[in-house]
Amino acid sequence: MSDNMFRWDADADGIVTLTMDDPDASANTMNDRFGRDFETTLDRLESEKDSITGVVLTSAKKTFFAGGNLEDLRNYGASEAQRVYDNSQQIKAALRRLETLGKPVVAAINGAALGGGLEIALATHHRIALDAKGSKIGLPEVTLGLLPGGGGVVRTVRLLGIADALMQVLLQGQQRNPKDALEARLVDEVVDSPEDLLAKAKQWVKDNPEAAQPWDVKGYKIPGGTPSTPAFAANLPAFPANLRKQLKNAPMPAPYNIMCAAVEGSQVDIDNAAKIESRYFADLVVGQVSTNMINAFFFDLQSINKGGSRPSGYDKHTARKVVVLGAGMMGAGIAYSCAMAGIDVVLKDVALANAEKGKDYSKKILDKAVSRGKSTQEKADAVLARITPTEKPEDASGADLVIEAVFESPDLKKKVFAEIMPHLAPDAVLGSNTSTLPITDLATGVDRPEDFVGLHFFSPVDKMPLLEIIRGEKTSDATLAKAVDIALQIKKTPIVVSDSRGFFTSRVIGTFVNEAVAMLAEGAAPSSIEQAGSQAGYPAPPLQLMDELTLTLPQHIREETRKGVEAAGGTWVAHPADAIIDRMVELGRKGRSSGSGFYSYDAEGKRTALWSGLSSEFGAATGDLPFEDMRERMLFAEALETVKCFDEGVLHTIADANIGSIMGIGFPAWTGGVAQYIDGYPGGLPGFVERSRILAKAYGDRFNPPASLVAKAEKGQNLRDSA
Ligand code: NAI
Repeated sequence: MSDNMFRWDADADGIVTLTMDDPDASANTMNDRFGRDFETTLDRLESEKDSITGVVLTSAKKTFFAGGNLEDLRNYGASEAQRVYDNSQQIKAALRRLETLGKPVVAAINGAALGGGLEIALATHHRIALDAKGSKIGLPEVTLGLLPGGGGVVRTVRLLGIADALMQVLLQGQQRNPKDALEARLVDEVVDSPEDLLAKAKQWVKDNPEAAQPWDVKGYKIPGGTPSTPAFAANLPAFPANLRKQLKNAPMPAPYNIMCAAVEGSQVDIDNAAKIESRYFADLVVGQVSTNMINAFFFDLQSINKGGSRPSGYDKHTARKVVVLGAGMMGAGIAYSCAMAGIDVVLKDVALANAEKGKDYSKKILDKAVSRGKSTQEKADAVLARITPTEKPEDASGADLVIEAVFESPDLKKKVFAEIMPHLAPDAVLGSNTSTLPITDLATGVDRPEDFVGLHFFSPVDKMPLLEIIRGEKTSDATLAKAVDIALQIKKTPIVVSDSRGFFTSRVIGTFVNEAVAMLAEGAAPSSIEQAGSQAGYPAPPLQLMDELTLTLPQHIREETRKGVEAAGGTWVAHPADAIIDRMVELGRKGRSSGSGFYSYDAEGKRTALWSGLSSEFGAATGDLPFEDMRERMLFAEALETVKCFDEGVLHTIADANIGSIMGIGFPAWTGGVAQYIDGYPGGLPGFVERSRILAKAYGDRFNPPASLVAKAEKGQNLRDSA
């Protein structure tokens, strides 16, 4: 038996079905074996061409093809661009042989075809996808800081036209289900059963003996035109401008490289376009941003979704009935997420009307989904029917999970737990969505502190993917394992941290906004501070974010932390931002919800402009700070606080730090997360330590690198490998 991963089955009609089945892996990827076996298979196809009617390409795995080998891609160093280029060219040469075989080739896409998987399919003459559950089709390379270097740019441009290829596929990196992929014209047909898939594929071969790629047919023109078409050329200058606007100048090279590869490649023949694509691809692969993003969005995320910090040895837990205490902004969102996951929800507030209002929140989201065709009325009704609004604790009878989201007051929280406890299942998980209160203290209010755990959601709950799970001093491993299972059940990404004031996320985000406010005190122009935040890649600039969070929140965390430090006999060091925040609160400018903050707002709550009083009140805009320092101070402040979280045992894994920072608090995605930012800094960990010292000299001791970091740098370690 041949050990070629392309299994060859010729039928009586001369149709060869090639079934990809890498014997050494659970999925087919672009590894060495693929390269070798594909060439051998192409040799055979070419030599036996006269007896072949056509080819059907499919897979024996659950996925059609998993794409490039990300382990290899993240490890290429700066000097290896030529090797990356050559490998990319080699794969494309092979795909080109397939599409110019002179026989019809059909991709029978039996499962997910992402990245390289779709690129293979795009080199065939016809794509039929099976509408399998969870099957995803797309070119998500941009989300990993890459571009599709196996012909994905070249062929989508030729298939869809430059504008659609860029806007609908390449720059967004969406992963579509087969029906949506059909609508986006990435596949040609969708079928419901595996039998249909192969039968239709073979039928297409028979019906189209002369099949050729549209771009290999004489007279072919790229749909929508190219830069040499006047109408298209007129629009072209807007492309980079729009991209810059979208990225807000964040240092993300992939979208630019994709755009250049698409536009430049549209002006030459397919072989030269392939070379251009490979050049831009190699440039990204050997760069730091793709390494960062592959680490975070593939490896870290995968480790978290496999259970990450979940204690092992416990059976998988499934929640069936949850009581959500408090139907305000957070409670309403939590109720929605739980109901969507099929959990029965009792939504309890002080008055029935409040609880009903909380349920209405779900109705609004569901109505919108139905009106946009994203859900059906039947499904929406079923979700809504799972939510029971109430003011009576006894309606929680038998609940196996509590998620408390009442006002941020320890006494009130303890009171609502005491009230609900008698009605719960005996081993119910007791969760609190507090954003600042120590879990260990809240757990003193219940007689089962081992079942008590922090479940910190982010606003708006239905959109924010992160759930920060907080372990109190007495929280048991069993409860923690259940909490991770519940997070995954409600389709959230869980990180697990230990108790600390502000946990990991609130604590770290506080240093970002504080740093921005400190710059105000040093005389920086508020608009430059905001610009520096955007250019660093933050989704919301710091002063704007501070207004959203409300200024009393960091004030509260700071006061409580100060009390804790002083009670433990320590010395409290004030931050240069403190005085400004206190004064803003004194002036009643507490942020958006109070009608004014660092920004002014109109009657509808819309942001109008930065408050002009910032300069007279605080001396802002009177000095000039180096822009690069402003940009980096925000990133460094968060990174250094993260190191402290590791030192104090609040954080336990690099994956939790990276994913928590990107998904929870908007740490810039190009960095690969707050821990990866340190390792990926120019010069690595030693480079980061050196720069911290320079910032400390210029802006204050808070930038001094912690001893643990200095020790690792001296030992030649980085954070990821030493954590
Ligand atoms: P909210 O003010 O919108 O809602 C609180 C709700 O609790 C109100 O509907 C209130 O009627 C209800 N409530 C008060 N006493 C109650 C009782 N005895 N029994 C039942 N319900 C009662 O507050 P929000 O923003 O939803 O916050 C709730 C909790 O979530 C707080 O602990 C907050 O710190 C935390 N949190 C808030 C985030 C945010 O972005 N707003 C983010 C993460 C956590």
